[in-house]
Amino acid sequence: MEKPQLTLLCFLLFLKTVLASGGTKLPIVPEPSSVVALKSNFFLSDSVAIIAPADSGEAAYLRAYLEKNYGIKLHTTTKPISGHKSIIISIEPKDTALKEEGYLLNISSDEIRITAATSAGSFYAIQTLIQLLPVERQPRLKIHAVAITDGPQYKWRGMHLDCSRHFFSKDEIEKYLDLMALYKFNIFHWHLTDDQGWRIEIKKYPLLTKISSTRKETVIGHPKDTGNKFDGKPYGGYYSQDDIKEIVAYASQRHITIVPEIEMPGHSVAALAAYPQYSCTGGPFEPLTVWGVSNEVFCAGNDSTFSFLENILNEVCALFPGKYIHIGGDECPKDRWKACMKCQARMKNEHLKTEEELQSYFTKRIVKYLSDKGKTVIGWDEILEGGLAPGAMVMSWRGTQGGIDAANQDHYVVMSPGKPCYFDHYQSKNREKEPLAIGGYNPLSAVYGYNPMPKKLNPYRREYILGAQGNVWTEYIPDFSHVEYMALPRMCALAEALWTDPENKNYNNFISRLSLQSKLLDTQNVNYDKEFLKKK
Ligand code: ACM
Ligand code: ZN
Repeated sequence: MEKPQLTLLCFLLFLKTVLASGGTKLPIVPEPSSVVALKSNFFLSDSVAIIAPADSGEAAYLRAYLEKNYGIKLHTTTKPISGHKSIIISIEPKDTALKEEGYLLNISSDEIRITAATSAGSFYAIQTLIQLLPVERQPRLKIHAVAITDGPQYKWRGMHLDCSRHFFSKDEIEKYLDLMALYKFNIFHWHLTDDQGWRIEIKKYPLLTKISSTRKETVIGHPKDTGNKFDGKPYGGYYSQDDIKEIVAYASQRHITIVPEIEMPGHSVAALAAYPQYSCTGGPFEPLTVWGVSNEVFCAGNDSTFSFLENILNEVCALFPGKYIHIGGDECPKDRWKACMKCQARMKNEHLKTEEELQSYFTKRIVKYLSDKGKTVIGWDEILEGGLAPGAMVMSWRGTQGGIDAANQDHYVVMSPGKPCYFDHYQSKNREKEPLAIGGYNPLSAVYGYNPMPKKLNPYRREYILGAQGNVWTEYIPDFSHVEYMALPRMCALAEALWTDPENKNYNNFISRLSLQSKLLDTQNVNYDKEFLKKK
């Protein structure tokens, strides 16, 4: 190495060490692997060109973002234009120094240069760049010069949203996806079916939207406090297949894979309200108006139940091009199966000793069907009971043991333990000041401190932990502004737990960056919990 290069390298390493001790104070969340602030500025205005491959969706995304939020119109070309300041996006798939979703972002007074191995990496560089822009709408944006090297710790950086208990519009889902993109999440787990409402149009079964999507009323608050009062208002909504196609495309432009969840065998009362023949008793049922766990589940002894679910899954697979389908599997009481002649006959014929094994049979049958269609199936950790289906992934929600057990059996795992991954719990100890929540206490600091890798997992099994996910269950969250309040800023903390090297994490520094960052959320009209602003 030449001497000047060596001197520069030593200087950069020194700066990285200094900065790593406290992290940066630039408004970047999640904190990148390395940030070196330089002493100049780039000025972004209409005269700047974007130089990018012709098919760069990321260039188009950046151009649209700048036009919408600042009125700045950049032109895009594939070749450098002399005398023009430029934003250069280049994809270098063979650059082995770059992580798969990683990037380099170099901002000097002359250019902004983004280098990534994949288009996802260049998209994340653009999200970092967006966070560095001044928030005020102006024709000339002053951007601090920096040299950033970055890449994620985990592959599965997920956020979930329950759209069954309460329904959120297409625009609201797209806003959720925008927030996810801003914090470099790449999986949207879309909870589309449950006891209280079926939210996805299935052409073969029109009653799922005609009957299952609407409940006749909704319980008010916690029944133990309110004495079981109901609001008396029908509540419904669903996504048409056209809506879903638009949302899938919107997510894909943001490098987000949607994982649809179709719950089975439990949490299925809304579906059974329209098609009671697939239950053990034959019904009748109505979509539930209260929360909790119901005894009414799909009948595992009836072959036509499987045909019904397979036909639904055919349409689901056609709508969602991603690799993963979530089939629920949680909280399935076995009372009906114990009393059902068909379920008991199935157990006898298949030599199943317990109803847990019958659930395992159910899951294995569906997993086989979906695997043959090239999909990977995920289920909540109950799918471990009675034997895990070959190839199924486990989402560990009742703590981390399910995830550890699955990894020990060579199955991939997504960590989502209630503490600290459930964002429907209170985020403050002072409940009186908070909107009503399901209960519990899950503060920002706990989410920030989370490390998805279980300490007691054998090191050679660590590769099975793909990442983690924040879950927003909406029994007590009736509108989208409330979803934002519950999700933010906890999802910012989770983003850092999933993206940033644990050695670069520092809670006080995170709060400072988040405080700077919150101005961007204000301009986007996001309703986040502002308690952290008092701590900075
Ligand atoms: C769950 O919270 N029932 C997965
Ligand atoms: Zn049955």
